[in-house]
Amino acid sequence: MEKNKVYIETYGCQMNLADSEIVKSILKDKGYGFTDDLNSANVILLNTCSVRDNAEQRIYGRLGNIKKQKDNNPGTVIGILGCMAERLRKDLIEEKQIVDLVVGPDEYRRLPEFIDTAYAGEKGIGVKLSKTETYDDIIPYREDGLSAWISVMRGCDKFCTFCVVPFTRGRERSRNLDSVVNEVKQLSGRGFKEVTLLGQNVNSYNDNGRDFADLLAAVAVVDSSMRIRFTTSHPQDLSDKLLYTIAEHENLCNYIHLPVQSGSDRILELMNRTYTIEHYLNLIEKARKIIPGVSFSTDIIAGFPTETEEDHKMTLEVMRKVRYDGAYMFKYSPREGTKAYKMKDDVPEEVKGRRLSEIIDLQQKISYEINQTLINTTETVLVEGFSRKSDEFHSGRTGTNKVVIFPVMNGVKAGDYVSVKINRATSATLFGEVEKILAIEKTSITKTG
Ligand code: SAH
Ligand code: SF4
Ligand code: F3S
Repeated sequence: MEKNKVYIETYGCQMNLADSEIVKSILKDKGYGFTDDLNSANVILLNTCSVRDNAEQRIYGRLGNIKKQKDNNPGTVIGILGCMAERLRKDLIEEKQIVDLVVGPDEYRRLPEFIDTAYAGEKGIGVKLSKTETYDDIIPYREDGLSAWISVMRGCDKFCTFCVVPFTRGRERSRNLDSVVNEVKQLSGRGFKEVTLLGQNVNSYNDNGRDFADLLAAVAVVDSSMRIRFTTSHPQDLSDKLLYTIAEHENLCNYIHLPVQSGSDRILELMNRTYTIEHYLNLIEKARKIIPGVSFSTDIIAGFPTETEEDHKMTLEVMRKVRYDGAYMFKYSPREGTKAYKMKDDVPEEVKGRRLSEIIDLQQKISYEINQTLINTTETVLVEGFSRKSDEFHSGRTGTNKVVIFPVMNGVKAGDYVSVKINRATSATLFGEVEKILAIEKTSITKTG
């Protein structure tokens, strides 16, 4: 019987989305049910992000709205999960009267206990970080679908000086390889067509000597009709073995998210990124040789402390050299507790803003140009469903993670692979027509030639 209706809202990165599925699994085991309607929930959980100040401000704003629900139904339990729980701890409970429980990313097993405590009228805080918790025995609660995330690591040991993640997520640890493979098998059995393996720095994955390339190879052969993606790769640790593994397996997507953060070696050093631009560019070149057609995306921060106009120009320069397919671009936001927080946030807001727009404009131009070169080519697309704007069009993605829109064709449905002839492109989307439905069998395949 369903004990209670839980409503969960998730912010931040894919790790948080994956964690919300673990949380749901833990709660479901204790008899809880779920609702998408905030107003009918007895328990409201926000799985939060602290990576930049505006992420936290958004969540504070949301708590303001939720207060109305609590005023109407004083029995409603309100909980903060995730990275803000870890960063702000009891301040949240003390400052925000409506918050009943604060539970960090390594304490989700105790969530049912904290909810019971909250029903009994007491506030609860569980923010211990663990060196070992990977939740690898918990099968995340997932609706049926095509695409799933799997956390293969937790935490981060890199301590980039701007970043709060090592403080909110704790020490790096890898999940057991076989448990990941088993989860992929189950997803394959349920008809999923795509999994994304997640970690803050997947390249340092290590399960008793089995590295990330070993994990990818093991996952790739589970079901050749399933696309395998992963994120995030740190430029320092991306190995040749990994590149060859991607090249070898057809269903390992030719797409690498490889955050550069800045184009200036001086800034990279202040960021503690532990690579130079020379190393980074060599890596890109090598990857392009080993994996023909591989595409790259990146993360870039504008306005890190002491960043000069010269440094900023170097960032634009590296973007021109690499020609990323896509980028996530941010203004530097000082985070308390990090090393960079002790440096003066000395790039004025309007300069940060202007540099960020130059970065965004350049990336749009590059994405547009790359996409124009795809006109008249044929792309293999996994059909994901109807396009957002119209049921007369399907939407899907290429292996290189580009969105493709094409008219619905008889016999084509979500989950199919089709070849699409591209006839038009913007900086964000490709448009085309289905040429044929591709039969991709559920057998182990490797690339030839
Ligand atoms: N583990 C990943 C990314 C984690 S956070 C990696 O190493 O790349 C995602 C992105 O947010 C980062 O790559 C960075 O570009 C951005 N970011 C992190 N902290 C930030 C801060 N204090 N201000 C602005 N952007 C930040
Ligand atoms: Fe943050 Fe750096 Fe770790 Fe990425 S690698 S999560 S940016 S500390
Ligand atoms: Fe945000 Fe935490 Fe992810 S800070 S980006 S939710 S690891």
